[in-house]
Amino acid sequence: MKSLLTMNELTKDEIIEILDQAERFKNGEAWNKGADKYVANLFFEASTRTKCSFEMAERKLGLGVIPFEAHTSSVQKGESLYDTVRTLESIGVETVVIRHSLDRYFDELAGLKISVINGGDGCGNHPTQCLLDLLTIRQEFGGFENLQVAIIGDIAHSRVARSNAEALSKLGAEVVFSGPREWFPPEYQNRYMTVDESIATSDAVMLLRIQHERHGSTSALTKEEYHESFGLTVSRKQRMKDRGIILHPAPVNRGVEIDDSLVECENSRIFKQMENGVFVRMAVLKRALNN
Ligand code: CP
Repeated sequence: MKSLLTMNELTKDEIIEILDQAERFKNGEAWNKGADKYVANLFFEASTRTKCSFEMAERKLGLGVIPFEAHTSSVQKGESLYDTVRTLESIGVETVVIRHSLDRYFDELAGLKISVINGGDGCGNHPTQCLLDLLTIRQEFGGFENLQVAIIGDIAHSRVARSNAEALSKLGAEVVFSGPREWFPPEYQNRYMTVDESIATSDAVMLLRIQHERHGSTSALTKEEYHESFGLTVSRKQRMKDRGIILHPAPVNRGVEIDDSLVECENSRIFKQMENGVFVRMAVLKRALNN
């Protein structure tokens, strides 16, 4: 069994191997998975893309998907995460995909044999989002060396920012950060760039959603002020590199992080990211179930 909890645990070669397998799945490769294999998706936080694309990936691979909804499960009676996952392991589920609001919720599952794929933990990690971002960037540029990627927005509360920063640096890309000072972690201070400069000089511009649900506070800025100060406006887009691409993990706050008219513009790969998510998740599931 092979879990995937953070991007940190993957070597450069392992990342490339997952991206290559995702590309092969995208090109129609099938996988003979052997005997019946069962997975369950445990989402304790809201999700559209991650949950639905994991389900799509599981069905494409012919896996048995055991339905689980937190609000109708015995979690409602106070059952712990450990006991929930241990129960699924006992009945024959081999892999669980989990999204949870607690940072590093997976530490309490460390002793189990079942493989855990992290679908997002608190402000911590979102490895499959990172892998689909990497696949989208590689499809565009062929690799990562000598690329500059700007990550802009609510950096402090973003599990996407952390996962991407680690992986892109490992793969040889330069990562710069921009966004409101109140949501800017001190460890990235030496890689701060103004929004205008980061958008004009980067090959990939990754915009992040404001994570209101994680800090409970709103910025001192209105949505319009945020858009003008930190968003991808039409005039900033005009200063992007010709071949520069726009990424966003979504859901998108249209008119805040990005102008509504740019969400599907020629440089945007936002919906391509979602398409790639299915193939990346197929590759991660295969890796988990093959071991
Ligand atoms: N990008 C992402 O994780 O989206 P969901 O919250 O809809 O899964």
